[in-house]
Amino acid sequence: MSSHPRPVMVASNRGPVTFRVDDAGQLQSSRGQGGLVTALTGAMQSGGTWVAAALTDGDREMVARHPEGRIQVKADDTSYDLRYLAFPQAVFDGYYNNISNGLLWFAHHYLWDTVHSPLFKEDTVQAWEDYISVNRAFATALAEEASRLPEPPTYLIQDYHLSLVPHFLRELQPDALIAHFSHTAIAGPTYLRIIPDRIRDAVLRGLLGADVLGFHSEAWAENFLMSCRYVSGARVDLGRSRVVLEGREILVRVHPISIDVAPMRELASSLQARRLRQQLNRWRGNARLILRVDRMELSKNILRGFLAYENFLRRHPSWKGRVKFLALLSPSRQEIPEYAAYTEDCIREAERINTELGGEDWTPIEVRIREDYLGAIAAYGLYDVLMVNPVFDGMNLVAMEGPVLNRRHGVLLLSRNAGAYFRLGRYAIGVNPFDIEGQADAISEALEMSEDERTRRSRGLSRLVLANPPARWIRLQLDDIERVRRRRGFSAA
Ligand code: G6P
Repeated sequence: MSSHPRPVMVASNRGPVTFRVDDAGQLQSSRGQGGLVTALTGAMQSGGTWVAAALTDGDREMVARHPEGRIQVKADDTSYDLRYLAFPQAVFDGYYNNISNGLLWFAHHYLWDTVHSPLFKEDTVQAWEDYISVNRAFATALAEEASRLPEPPTYLIQDYHLSLVPHFLRELQPDALIAHFSHTAIAGPTYLRIIPDRIRDAVLRGLLGADVLGFHSEAWAENFLMSCRYVSGARVDLGRSRVVLEGREILVRVHPISIDVAPMRELASSLQARRLRQQLNRWRGNARLILRVDRMELSKNILRGFLAYENFLRRHPSWKGRVKFLALLSPSRQEIPEYAAYTEDCIREAERINTELGGEDWTPIEVRIREDYLGAIAAYGLYDVLMVNPVFDGMNLVAMEGPVLNRRHGVLLLSRNAGAYFRLGRYAIGVNPFDIEGQADAISEALEMSEDERTRRSRGLSRLVLANPPARWIRLQLDDIERVRRRRGFSAA
């Protein structure tokens, strides 16, 4: 869609840069990895600001040292402003740990054991106020930043942390062009009824403040539309994938994100990565390798993955000693009690399986819990089977990273509840993440698969990933917004 590029304002909880104070008291910054940061940065070619929450002590120090917490960042031929918002610890805790990650994340990934949880009490009421105040602060900061620009920007709001921002921003700027993108799975209307009515209604109405709502898969877009049927005054048009509320039309669009392959391949061919691959190869010996790479995250279904592997080994004892499972897990959200408990459960189960099935010269499962991006990049090169079995997942980028870096025509085991399954499913072995026996069968099928079939599938996976670079993801969203702009009669300069 031809039009001159407009300034873009991005808002996300986690910003593109992390700051730390070095021994000399200087602020040092490091840029986040991944296609999302690259894609959103690329969208700011005509200027703009990225507003995010200060997460680390270094981030807060950056805010303290710069007027309004704003600095200029240069990246990939683009220069943009970065503004971090610092919140009192208790407010941030309510907004981030309690509501964003303890309530909304749990709801959208179906994580509750509903016989016993959740129990919404006074702390939820207080935390909800914190969530509102942080979302309001984001909207206010965005409007302030926009007033410094020569022309009205396009707002790109990211994820469940900021679901009220579109609504608050619309109150401040009724004509604003706002897109919100959900990177998570989205629960269906029945499950969403678990969360307090007031919160559910505010979240849905908050999102509906946008002009365009983006999701990674048809399943999440449909769930969202179905939930909107319960928002009073909203008219849902499933056929045209839109909602009409208070005379405004809100478009619901599916734009699956992919990964930025070139920098990953470059890193994978670095000397350091090569050394790590050699080490891993020595550790693996003659065994086949099953790999998983995840955040230490409830929705990733790590425990059932171990149980499926155990089931496979018990039913196919000839594989004992001939296969190893490597789980590379980066620590995540340990402030939330369920995450700390889950981490212990995973370690305990792996140890039990190792004790019951392993021997002196063979350990069935190796669990490594640490931040180790390079280690993951190296390991991707070596797997025979990549296990990606989330309970529910908005997209899942491991399912894309693995196939473009793997050198052994490895097989992808992929949960049918991951957004990625809708894109890659035809070249993966699809699994029901709750079915232990079924996942064990899938491991067996993957390990026994013919070389021809493995080659066909792994090539297919790489092809699909490479055909959808992150720049395309952002371009399609900007095209949506441009259509809204034209329909509203804005001048298309
Ligand atoms: C998911 C969310 C992101 C979030 C990431 C890591 O992918 O969609 O918004 O940044 O998890 O979680 P964290 O809580 O560490 O930011």
